[in-house]
Amino acid sequence: MLDALEQALLEAVRAGGALIKSKTGSRMTVEYKTNWADLLTEVDPAVEQAVKAMILERFPDHGFVGEEGGGGYDREYTWVLDPLDGTTNFAHTLPNFACSLACYRGQEAQVAATYDPMRDELFTARRGGGAFLNGYTIAVDPAPVLRESLVATNLMWDLREGRAHLLPGIQALGCEVRGIRSLGSAALEMAYVACGRISAYLQYSLAPWDFAAGALLVAEAGGKVTTMDGSPLDITQRSTVVTSNGRIHDEVLKYLRVGGEK
Ligand code: IPD
Ligand code: CA
Ligand code: CA
Repeated sequence: MLDALEQALLEAVRAGGALIKSKTGSRMTVEYKTNWADLLTEVDPAVEQAVKAMILERFPDHGFVGEEGGGGYDREYTWVLDPLDGTTNFAHTLPNFACSLACYRGQEAQVAATYDPMRDELFTARRGGGAFLNGYTIAVDPAPVLRESLVATNLMWDLREGRAHLLPGIQALGCEVRGIRSLGSAALEMAYVACGRISAYLQYSLAPWDFAAGALLVAEAGGKVTTMDGSPLDITQRSTVVTSNGRIHDEVLKYLRVGGEK
């Protein structure tokens, strides 16, 4: 079964990425979703429709949850898609965006992929089978302590949603690590944790499609993925997310507790 899932996954995510790339830099309609900073381009739903059609043609009895089209978890297998993660970057022609897709059986990710079409980087993982970048095995950063670590987050998103009380945690963590980065694409940032470019990525609120693929990529690359209170992620719920190389995980959680978020 994993072979069939993986084949469909790779074809669909590559097709989604190719569609995104073909529209990069062209004039397009940009709408606001919930506010002026929450953008929707015409490309987001177009990619979702294309990827969804490819998956459901192969697996008509599977469920499908997409950021733009909704969906539920009432089938044995559910595909979870962020058609374009990093829409703000895409709208500004900043080349940090990706198409990100995973297939879950209950709470267990089976296969996952995040494709960066501008760098032609395809991050993939298969349950129990490791994680890969363009077919080569990847592993998390070996940094054993915060002082050798590079950490990514997207703070502005949380501040705008009124979570300014969380700043002390990030500030405390920021003083201990080598640097804090913000790349603007949760899916890519988790893929970068998986391949060791950054040591940890965390955010106070992510949707299932933001972390569906990244969670398996990081776990299969030898890292750790939890909520900010150390619990496993629930693929049906929006939640806090901490992904890391594993070695610094507890320390990261300890600093974030200063911010008081579960
Ligand atoms: C967003 C990006 C961003 C993260 C937000 C996400 P979108 O996804 O991943 O980096 O901080 O929480 O919603 O809207 O570009 O798919
Ligand atoms: Ca997203
Ligand atoms: Ca998106």
